[in-house]
Amino acid sequence: MVKSKRFIFARQFDGPPKESDFQLVEEETPELKDGEILVESLFNSVDPYMRPYTRQLPTGITMIGEGCGRVIESKSSDFPVGTVVMHRYGWCTHAVLDTKNKDPQNIIRKAPADYPKDLPLSLLLGAVGMPGMTAYYGLMKLCEPKEGETVFVNGAAGAVGSLVGQIAKIKGCRAVGSAGTDAKVAWLKELGFDAAFNYKTVSSLDAALKEAAPNGIDCYFDNVGADFSSTVLNHMNLFGRVSICGSISTYNDNEPAKGPYPFVTILFKQLTVTGFIVTRWIKEWPKGMEQMVQWIKEGKLKYREHVTEGFENMPKAFIGMLVGENTGKAVVKL
Ligand SMILES: NC(=O)c1ccc[n+]([C@@H]2O[C@H](COP(=O)([O-])OP(=O)(O)OC[C@H]3O[C@@H](n4cnc5c(N)ncnc54)[C@H](OP(=O)(O)O)[C@@H]3O)[C@@H](O)[C@H]2O)c1
Repeated sequence: MVKSKRFIFARQFDGPPKESDFQLVEEETPELKDGEILVESLFNSVDPYMRPYTRQLPTGITMIGEGCGRVIESKSSDFPVGTVVMHRYGWCTHAVLDTKNKDPQNIIRKAPADYPKDLPLSLLLGAVGMPGMTAYYGLMKLCEPKEGETVFVNGAAGAVGSLVGQIAKIKGCRAVGSAGTDAKVAWLKELGFDAAFNYKTVSSLDAALKEAAPNGIDCYFDNVGADFSSTVLNHMNLFGRVSICGSISTYNDNEPAKGPYPFVTILFKQLTVTGFIVTRWIKEWPKGMEQMVQWIKEGKLKYREHVTEGFENMPKAFIGMLVGENTGKAVVKL
């Protein structure tokens, strides 16, 4: 038996999440049954979706989320001790997982057999994990960027956005991004973005977009939503494609944001606007992960991680990520 810790989602969030919305508990892990494994987390992820998803969930459950860990006890020949896995057991130091559970949305995924030894395992929660697949498939499948086109992404210095802009460059596009600090904007330029601006300090978003994307926007990868997106749509070119990935500017709202309504703009610009949840391509993830590893190894794709040390600091890391303390992927190292 092993002493494990987990965070309980103790109170429904009201506006921005607070540390008091979580409760830390310590308990002993149960004895393994046939087919079960005990995983010790190495890294846990904090992601924006945790804020809106919890709206539908009861309090008292383990706070939701993905972890990357190592099997330390096993009653499954498919997952021997030492295997590195990604799981969705939530905010915990240890997880007892049933390897016979084949629910595709909840499946335990193994690290790719050929995962390079010199890459940090935390990337399996970032560029080579869910956020990486979000950037890759959300851009490639829904925006179908073509050489010479302009791709605009907001939240551009985050886990997903920083990859979207770089993939756009790999595909021969002009990449434009916005982020919330000057240091983040400087990093976007280092990454090869053709233009980037601080959306918090520009005098008008409209003018900033006009300057950064003088020929209009062909592909819009939206991480922010609401008013921001209404403004961006006015800069779209005819037959532009919009990939609705997230809506972080509204996640803390108690009431849904109202208008302006985008339908006439979508109509006359003949835009294709598609929302997505990345797990719709889960069967294709291994291919996408391979592609991300290859680009990283070739030096075409750079990543940054914002690492918070210590399991006890998970609420702090989550709260900080939501207000923009991270550059690149926010992860917690246990
Ligand atoms: N559809 C899917 O399957 C899927 C999967 C993964 C992620 N997502 C979505 O993708 C988006 C990015 O996720 P991520 O994991 O890459 O997070 P992230 O960008 O690494 O972190 C969140 C960032 O959002 C920015 N932000 C916070 N409040 C904002 C506001 N009011 N307006 C503009 N920006 C704001 C902050 O950066 P600044 O300093 O720049 O403000 C913060 O660093 C989120 O909307 C998330 O929900 C969707």
